[in-house]
Amino acid sequence: MTADQSARPWLDPDRSTTERVELLLAQMTLAEKVGQTHQVANIHPDDDAAQLAGGQIGSSLFASGATGGNERDEGVLAANIDAAQRHAVEASRLGIPVLFGRDVIHGHRTVCPIPLGLAASFDVGLVEEVAAVAAAEAVVDGVAWTFAPMVDLSEEPRWGRVAESLGETPVLSGRLAAAIVKGFQSDDPSDPDHIAACAKHFAGYGLSAGGRDYDTVSVGENTLRNLHLRPFKAAVDAGVATIMAAFNDVDGTPMHAHRHLLRDVLKGEWGFDGVVVADWNGIGQLVHQGVAADLRAAALLAIEAGVDLDMCSGSYAAHLAELVESGEVDEALVDDAVRRLLTLKFRLGLFDRPYVGEPIRSNAPTDASRATALRAAHAAHVLVSNNGILPLAPGAGTVHLTGPYAEAAEELFGTWTLDGRGEDVVAPATAFRARLGGEQLLVSDGRFSDRSVQQVRNADVTVAVVGEHPWRSGEANSVTDIGLPAGQLEHLRQLSRIGKPLVVVVYTGRPLELGDVLDLADAVLVVWHPGVEAGNALADIVFGDVAPHGRLPMTFPRTTGHIPTSTHQRPTGRLIELHEEGRQGRYLDDQVFPRLPFGYGLTYTSFEYGELRTVGGTELSGAGEVVVEIDVTNTGDRAGREVVQLSFRDPVAQVTRPLVELVDWAFLDLAPGEKGTASFTVRADQFAYFGTDNTSRVDAGEIVLVAGPDALHGSRLSLRVNP
Ligand code: NOJ
Repeated sequence: MTADQSARPWLDPDRSTTERVELLLAQMTLAEKVGQTHQVANIHPDDDAAQLAGGQIGSSLFASGATGGNERDEGVLAANIDAAQRHAVEASRLGIPVLFGRDVIHGHRTVCPIPLGLAASFDVGLVEEVAAVAAAEAVVDGVAWTFAPMVDLSEEPRWGRVAESLGETPVLSGRLAAAIVKGFQSDDPSDPDHIAACAKHFAGYGLSAGGRDYDTVSVGENTLRNLHLRPFKAAVDAGVATIMAAFNDVDGTPMHAHRHLLRDVLKGEWGFDGVVVADWNGIGQLVHQGVAADLRAAALLAIEAGVDLDMCSGSYAAHLAELVESGEVDEALVDDAVRRLLTLKFRLGLFDRPYVGEPIRSNAPTDASRATALRAAHAAHVLVSNNGILPLAPGAGTVHLTGPYAEAAEELFGTWTLDGRGEDVVAPATAFRARLGGEQLLVSDGRFSDRSVQQVRNADVTVAVVGEHPWRSGEANSVTDIGLPAGQLEHLRQLSRIGKPLVVVVYTGRPLELGDVLDLADAVLVVWHPGVEAGNALADIVFGDVAPHGRLPMTFPRTTGHIPTSTHQRPTGRLIELHEEGRQGRYLDDQVFPRLPFGYGLTYTSFEYGELRTVGGTELSGAGEVVVEIDVTNTGDRAGREVVQLSFRDPVAQVTRPLVELVDWAFLDLAPGEKGTASFTVRADQFAYFGTDNTSRVDAGEIVLVAGPDALHGSRLSLRVNP
């Protein structure tokens, strides 16, 4: 044991984490404990030196403001981090290191598709790899903790933050969330190439009224449990280190004061032993939300509710000690928060390796990180219509590339890109030039113009890259109209009027109303914001080197007026099938079902589905399993990947259950003419739900399985469950 370790026995790495935490906690004054619960933004080694040396700052996040996702900043400076850390570790009484966090959301320097684009891959392994690449780059800059994944179920496209989500279904979001947690954290959180993850925003944030960010949420506990809490539970089961509270209220109780959901459900029922972090000034906002008269009252509500770390409100630092001394807050609550925070720091190895030191490597994109980003960008391409124009045949003539994103760089990153650099992006025009040379390519000036309309005549096919600027999605960026941004549809109409083939590529942070675009274009690709490999991925897909295989992770409503639409619609007294038209209670002025359903996506070949069948009976007893299978044949003349989706419907339950719910999926990679079999093992617990008393149950009775290419179509089979 070193001299340091005998003076500070919690520094002895041979002791268990619990022992180290308890040894340290026993030494701490109330003020030092409160210091651990205080997080500040953009720590500065000189300005904050005294507070650091006084043990008054437990954590810092690097973000330039409350809505950092759409604000670029100067980046994380490892040297700054180490200088600040030195004050905490070497000048404070107990030497507790500071935990540094940053929003590393879909890549760090190597920017990958936005989370909604990653979700379109349906690819758990790929998504884990993207998170692992991001973590390995972030540690170079001294980041120890990220505020991702966002796992708010998203069925409200007006809400800008759907871009950060993993879509609308609990099983897809939950599995991808678990994969991201694993990618960021690995199985050993102290592994130096990994960082702590944070599942956010707990809970119900995706239901903000009217799609307005931060708005109120009116949802019952049953719907929360049957849908919105499930991805969080999956993240907790995957060992996520931290959970962030949401800005919204749930049925009148702001989440930063929601004792039942935070303390009883998350920490109690689920046994979550990690840290609950506030969102930016989320504790302070309890005053704005009108449930606390002042910051002191807000601190009281939040600590009682179970918020362990105060992000940027200063309320704990200002009032927690006094609240304990006055007897209003039990010190045991503060101890519980500090225990969790210290445990995280020990688990991350911060006490053993507090400094970043000289960069261990550059974090600039490498061949390997670009290869990951390229595969992820390919998988984010969802082909939603094609009359056969795609892929463009070799020698198909002159291609005209136009639209506001033809030469785009940083615009193709999407929201939450704090550390990506424009110079790393391969723009669509760059990739098309590399492939076609000057002769066969016309590029309009990057903006739609008279010139771009005229060039349609000079080319054999036009590829128009349109859609949303990243500032139109992400935090605080909601819209009232999910049509294409102003002017774009009109311009596409002009392009199509000339009568030459038109391919439309839509970069977007949300589902858009695409009906008119689908009607006028020969092919439409929905690509989200794809990251540094945007151009290469698009060229690979358009020219057929790679076949598109992404699927929509959210329903695309026909119009803004159809929102909300999702597969989770529940049966009413007058609606019993998702695709049923002509029933009372439907719209008078439009069809009701979505233009593009959840799970939809084409490729360059076609598939024919057989009938869903069971291997070994239709009875699902106790913990037993049944295997169901469906044959799929590639009926086209190109190889392709089919994402076979297994959904279910529970026709009779204690509460109304979704008309369709995804339960599993499988990839089939099939050569032309090849027949493959998708096989799914199902267990009764996959059909568990929360009943009228909000406890989980599996009922005896029928479960209808549906296997097909998306949420609306498929072959059915009934199973009998005997729990
Ligand atoms: C506010 C956002 O809601 C949250 O998602 C983010 O992690 C924090 N700001 C920190 O930047």
